[in-house]
Amino acid sequence: MVLRNHSCSPIHLILLYFCISAFASLADDTISGNRALSGNQTLVSTGDNFVLGFFKPGKSPRHYIGIWYNKVPKQTVVWVANRETPVSDPNSAKLLISAGNLVLINELGAQIWSTAVNQTSSVNSSLAAVLRDDGNLVLSDGSGSGSNPRSGRVLWQSLDNPVHTWLPGGKLSYDKITKEKQLLTSWKNAEDPAMGLFSLELDPNGSRYLIKWNRSQGYWTSGAWNGHIFSLVPEMRLNYIYNFSYVNNENETYFTYSLYNPTIISRFIMDVSGQIKQLSWVNGDWNLFWTQPREQCQVHDYCGGFGSCQNALPFCSCLPGFRVRNQSDWDLNDYLGGCVREMSLQCNGNGTGSNGRGDRFWSVSDVKLPVNEKQLTVGSVGECESSCFNDCSCTAYAYEEGRGCLVWNGELVNLQRLNEGDGNGKVIHIRLSASSQVFSASNNSKGSMIGIVVGCVGVGLVIVAVVVGLIWRRRRRAVGNSKAVEGSLVAFAYKDLQNATKNFSDKLGGGGFGSVFKGTLPDSTVIAAKKLESITQGEKQFRTEVSTIGTIQHVNLVRLRGFCSEGSKKLLVYDYMENGSLDSHLFYANETKFLDWETRYQIALGIARGLSYLHEKCRDCIIHCDIKPENILLDPEFCPKVADFGLAKLMGRDFSRVLTTMRGTRGYLAPEWISGVAITAKADVYSYGMMLFELVSGRRNSENSENGTVKFFPSWAANAIVNGGDVLVLLDPVLDRNADEEQVLKICKIACWCIQDDENTRPSMGQVVQILEGLMDVNVPPIPRSLQVFVESQEHIVFFTDSSCTDQSSQAKSNTSSASTNSKNSALSSKG
Ligand SMILES: *[C@@H]1O[C@H](CO)[C@@H](O)[C@H](O)[C@H]1NC(C)=O
Ligand SMILES: *[C@@H]1O[C@H](CO)[C@@H](O)[C@H](O)[C@H]1NC(C)=O
Ligand SMILES: *[C@@H]1O[C@H](CO)[C@@H](O)[C@H](O)[C@H]1NC(C)=O
Ligand SMILES: *[C@@H]1O[C@H](CO)[C@@H](O)[C@H](O)[C@H]1NC(C)=O
Ligand SMILES: *[C@@H]1O[C@H](CO)[C@@H](O)[C@H](O)[C@H]1NC(C)=O
Ligand SMILES: *[C@@H]1O[C@H](CO)[C@@H](O)[C@H](O)[C@H]1NC(C)=O
Ligand SMILES: *[C@@H]1O[C@H](CO)[C@@H](O)[C@H](O)[C@H]1NC(C)=O
Ligand SMILES: *[C@@H]1O[C@H](CO)[C@@H](O)[C@H](O)[C@H]1NC(C)=O
Ligand SMILES: *[C@@H]1O[C@H](CO)[C@@H](O)[C@H](O)[C@H]1NC(C)=O
Repeated sequence: MVLRNHSCSPIHLILLYFCISAFASLADDTISGNRALSGNQTLVSTGDNFVLGFFKPGKSPRHYIGIWYNKVPKQTVVWVANRETPVSDPNSAKLLISAGNLVLINELGAQIWSTAVNQTSSVNSSLAAVLRDDGNLVLSDGSGSGSNPRSGRVLWQSLDNPVHTWLPGGKLSYDKITKEKQLLTSWKNAEDPAMGLFSLELDPNGSRYLIKWNRSQGYWTSGAWNGHIFSLVPEMRLNYIYNFSYVNNENETYFTYSLYNPTIISRFIMDVSGQIKQLSWVNGDWNLFWTQPREQCQVHDYCGGFGSCQNALPFCSCLPGFRVRNQSDWDLNDYLGGCVREMSLQCNGNGTGSNGRGDRFWSVSDVKLPVNEKQLTVGSVGECESSCFNDCSCTAYAYEEGRGCLVWNGELVNLQRLNEGDGNGKVIHIRLSASSQVFSASNNSKGSMIGIVVGCVGVGLVIVAVVVGLIWRRRRRAVGNSKAVEGSLVAFAYKDLQNATKNFSDKLGGGGFGSVFKGTLPDSTVIAAKKLESITQGEKQFRTEVSTIGTIQHVNLVRLRGFCSEGSKKLLVYDYMENGSLDSHLFYANETKFLDWETRYQIALGIARGLSYLHEKCRDCIIHCDIKPENILLDPEFCPKVADFGLAKLMGRDFSRVLTTMRGTRGYLAPEWISGVAITAKADVYSYGMMLFELVSGRRNSENSENGTVKFFPSWAANAIVNGGDVLVLLDPVLDRNADEEQVLKICKIACWCIQDDENTRPSMGQVVQILEGLMDVNVPPIPRSLQVFVESQEHIVFFTDSSCTDQSSQAKSNTSSASTNSKNSALSSKG
């Protein structure tokens, strides 16, 4: 047996050949006999797919034995041996066969990990641990044929002992004889593979999988296996990459999957975010294309006690009057520790707090209430408040029409902040010490949004302000005055934007990338400043990307005026658009104020022109990746302007996280995301098509109707235009059939072409412009396959894709050749 040093790793085939020939008759994928693996030695599987050796996660000083991909440059660990018991010096630690097991001995000579196989009769020398090319580490004996360990009896294998990754070929089973379950468990955080609180396990009674918190509180289920798919995962129907099977025999029950195309590198993980994710390695990055639960805040206790969750970055913050318990955990995205009080409760003060003693309630509105409430039968809000006040263990109360008085004892868990004006928002009154900062910071004891801003932002603000002040002073010296010009863009000083936006007080909206604030520059220009959250890019790259975005100018694209980049403070400054975003006019319109048909048609055309410019006409062409009504802004003349273009590239990998957590986004993502193939401009065409349907109907495609059943508008519309008939019934009711019937039909046909499953069948944005301008005619489209699926599974409208638009894939690869023929399978037919 031979262990191979990194110095011999197969970067070049020649080197590889050298390695193999140097140790001719020996396999470097095997540990056997008396030899041990130590230091930087590794095992490499025969097909070069996987490596086993010591690794160190992130900045952690701890070392672990793990298996990672050999062909993925970004070290991605799929299995860890000693997840709870790291070693500090891998050079004096050893992985070896001992007493019938594969064991890990640390620097002090103590055994800290073992395969723990209970067997008495085997001889050490005939045992071998082989790293197979599917990532499975197999311990077997020589009982198979002669002394060849590869054909021996399998005593233990890593696929049966998963950590957080479920590789193709692996299974998560329930053993009916021993009644034991295999679990997929999250790491504690990105730098600590120790067992975290989130786990995925099989519920054999329901033949379904559950995600649980601390193995007790379930917060997601796959639904029962119905013979083809898990009932609550309808997107499995559309799958054409994975070969799924569910096995249930007298010994065990499990689900397993494999890849039809084994060259695809794909993994399924229980992530530290408490979500399960399927990722594929595409174009030099991990591409996320499926995750559950979809929204971060659906993960039980994600933000810990007294934390508050929102489905946009940053996901977790502390409630007013509370601060982060452990900042270093928090910085590693481990929020489970939650928040602690800034001022401890008085409880026995028995006063109103006017003299700074006793407790008071701080009200927070637009929230989803925490779990584990108790219902009290009291008559009024006042009684509810005093019941809570008089009980020292009561930490909050809420009074709801219908349910009456609700109170909470102990930590508040799963409180979620909703958007202002969200119809489901509730008000909660949280017990704080009357001398808490929040009361002195604002005289408004009713709190509401201001309460949240002051509470959550304000806590950090004092500290931040001091730090920013220091940094800014230092910067100021370097930059000179607050503004410098970079190309046509203004580099704003943070301080100036703070002043312009009155310390970010007028929030226009919040999205996945961060919040947008209205501001006024000293020359009275009105601006919209977008505060970007968690940019992973370096300074230089950020500036390069921003100046690229800055050079892209078109009447249908929102103009970037400038930016701010001071350390982690990254903002983009845009022209302010008076008429807000398209969604507000479409979905929240009233009888008197709505977009007439002519305006809608012009909006459709304007957006198409803007996108066509982005895809085909500008120098550094870009794919938008996030086309939806929220990203279409309207100027005073209702001329549409596409916003947020270029952000996919700017945000890098975080973009995928954002996409998967934003509400509504999933309805606009094209099905090719699921295949993990490179994304082209046709993904934007798909989203544009989905948006056209909404422009016609005036409601969200995925909206539920009153009786709880779902009618997926695009399916309905596609059937209507293919089968002929009255298209005006598709129209937004507020228009009262006031529209050009031919235009409505044309737009519906275009929309249906745009959402074809095969991206080559979709028209380019340039072709869409031509059709809308009347230069080209449009054929009757076929009904997309995916829409047929939705007709079948009406009860679960869960869109089948969540994915990322990575650096690599956001570069436009426009495919204009395909749809230009005048065939039956093309959107176009020439005019006249
Ligand atoms: C591996 O470790 C040996 C001894 O500690 C060292 O000489 C060698 O440079 C290391 N190789 C690599 C690739 O780090
Ligand atoms: C197996 O290995 C253990 C530990 O290295 C040793 O104590 C034992 O004697 C070995 N047994 C045989 C049969 O070689
Ligand atoms: C190992 O086997 C022995 C004898 O068969 C048995 O007494 C012991 O309980 C077993 N240990 C475990 C952990 O199963
Ligand atoms: C299955 O259900 C039965 C009865 O409800 C229960 O006793 C048993 O523990 C369940 N099994 C598992 C593995 O949850
Ligand atoms: C998880 O559950 C165990 C008991 O099963 C309990 O002791 C532990 O405190 C729980 N962990 C947390 C973080 O609540
Ligand atoms: C799918 O998997 C099953 C068993 O897991 C196997 O028998 C079958 O051949 C596979 N099908 C394809 C097309 O790979
Ligand atoms: C169940 O286990 C028994 C005993 O190990 C074995 O003989 C049988 O073949 C197993 N059944 C299946 C379906 O694997
Ligand atoms: C935060 O948690 C880490 C372990 O997760 C611990 O090492 C550290 O001491 C904690 N810090 C504080 C201030 O409690
Ligand atoms: C408040 O004062 C009353 C009477 O003085 C007393 O009965 C009650 O227990 C006090 N409440 C608390 C929370 O201490």
